[in-house]
Amino acid sequence: MEKYIIGGGKRLYGSVDVASAKNAVLPLFAASVLTEKRVTIRGVPAISDALCMAQILRELGADVRFRGEDVIVDSANAHSHEIPPSLTRELRSSVFMLGSLLTRFGCARIAYPGGCDIGLRPIDLHLNALKQLGVSISEQGGYIFCRCGRIRGAEILLDFPSVGATENILLAAVKAEGTTVLQGAAKEPEIVDLQNFLNAMGARVSGAGGDVIRIEGVKQLGGVNYRPIKDRIEAGTYLMACAICGGETEVRGVSAENIGLLLHKLRENGCKIHTKNDKIRIESDGRLVCNRRIETMPFPGFPTDLQAQATALNCGAHGSALIVENLFETRYKYVPELQKMGADIEVKGRSALVRGAGRLHGASLVAGDLRGGAALVLAALGAEGVSEVLDLSYIDRGYADMQGKLRKLGAEIKRVRV
Ligand code: EPZ
Repeated sequence: MEKYIIGGGKRLYGSVDVASAKNAVLPLFAASVLTEKRVTIRGVPAISDALCMAQILRELGADVRFRGEDVIVDSANAHSHEIPPSLTRELRSSVFMLGSLLTRFGCARIAYPGGCDIGLRPIDLHLNALKQLGVSISEQGGYIFCRCGRIRGAEILLDFPSVGATENILLAAVKAEGTTVLQGAAKEPEIVDLQNFLNAMGARVSGAGGDVIRIEGVKQLGGVNYRPIKDRIEAGTYLMACAICGGETEVRGVSAENIGLLLHKLRENGCKIHTKNDKIRIESDGRLVCNRRIETMPFPGFPTDLQAQATALNCGAHGSALIVENLFETRYKYVPELQKMGADIEVKGRSALVRGAGRLHGASLVAGDLRGGAALVLAALGAEGVSEVLDLSYIDRGYADMQGKLRKLGAEIKRVRV
């Protein structure tokens, strides 16, 4: 196991080039088995979730090679429609492989993806939508078995704009007989990226980014060479790191409209924000004012994947803040770790009341999930004294070379074996 040792109080200066978006890359891996032709996904970050998706494709019989930061998928020889439970447990979001497997093979068998560290994370919206597309589904012994003839286009209404369910529907409907109209779709930029990827393969998908997505089934899909969008959550994480530490940092690769309300909230904290095309520059004196209220919402609202980082920021600011997590039931597991640093947080159900301490002190911290782990790193960077953050396996799932990017900005952080 490895840990970070972090010396707090250093201001951050310089620039960060964010990687391709984890939550764009993962569905593109799933989409790559829709065709027998070669698929190249460019600029894939060195994150463990991407390695896990590559392993899943190999289990299906596809040939997956990493060439620098590019991934080449040749799935002509893919023959299996089953994903081993060890992999679906490790990567919950592999559930959107159902759509790809059904389109490719007409059947799919996956272990029920377990509840995760941030909530129950059911998949009822996925399964109900697949049934409307003509898929028969049975669940037995912790496995889901899906079978269909040719998928038939349908009118689908999602009760909640689930990102994964939207992606699953696109993957299942892209070669369906007839047209599928999806209402209540998720609007995240990663959905638009999947639409663009599929259309580059010869699909006919339109409307992504809005409430209604239209998928006209096509007969064949070809190969593609594609560079995904950059990671807005990684960008937001480093912007908040600079806000907390003070300094001046430019984050490159993500546009202001893709990062949603975060910039408005950082201005509320007292930071100066300048944006130009895909560059966002932040200036902070490190003495922040708490946000009155932060409510996580589906895009374009405040991203739930930045909730933990924003809570950490408010813990070290002045005043008080109410954080409301509307997407996941238990996305506050990192709070006891912040309390070790002197944070004053009271969690009640989906809300957390933060009373800003002005400055936290260093402590020994343990990460329990991806974004909670990132929040602990941010809190440690702004704290007085030295902290350590253990169990970096969570952070490694979604942040490539976090220590390298932070050190380049002047942070005192090193990664050591425990
Ligand atoms: C995606 O997860 C992201 N993961 C998550 O990022 C992100 O937090 C989430 O979308 C919301 O933006 C990937 O893209 C790989 P959802 P997903 O389906 O698809 C409920 C990170 O840190 N729901 O939009 O699983 C669900 O329980 C990760 O990068 C159902 O009730 O999210 C949750 O409360 C964490 N039934 C809410 O919807 C369903 O069938 C949002 O889930 C599906 C979801």
